[in-house]
Amino acid sequence: MGSFNWRKEFSIGVDEMDKQHMELVRIINDIHQAINEGRGKERLGGMLDRLLKYTDYHFAAEEKLMKKHRYPPYEEHKGKHAAMRKKVLSLIRESSGGREAMIYSVLDFLQGWLTKHIMETDRKYANYLNDN
Ligand SMILES: [Fe+2]
Repeated sequence: MGSFNWRKEFSIGVDEMDKQHMELVRIINDIHQAINEGRGKERLGGMLDRLLKYTDYHFAAEEKLMKKHRYPPYEEHKGKHAAMRKKVLSLIRESSGGREAMIYSVLDFLQGWLTKHIMETDRKYANYLNDN
């Protein structure tokens, strides 16, 4: 299975947040690697826990930044974070059942979500911050 790597287009021009997004990409890519080593199933739960902890840290940092700069769609953005957190929690619950096929749909979801969130939702607040 392929890997998920940082791409130039992911950069939103806010250094600290770019760094944190890089870490999220790394965590997702570690799941790829575990699968390639044949250890996906055994390690998925632990990796999703790690992802949850880091997203909590990252979302809080982003929300603090948006709030500080009075970003108008703050609540909407915060709502997207809350929905994602809920989804990761439900993935953690489901993954303890441990179907192999599930790992692929988890990866697919995480990559799709992160790519879209960074390139659309996060870019909007970054543009706002950089313009104000
Ligand atoms: Fe965000």
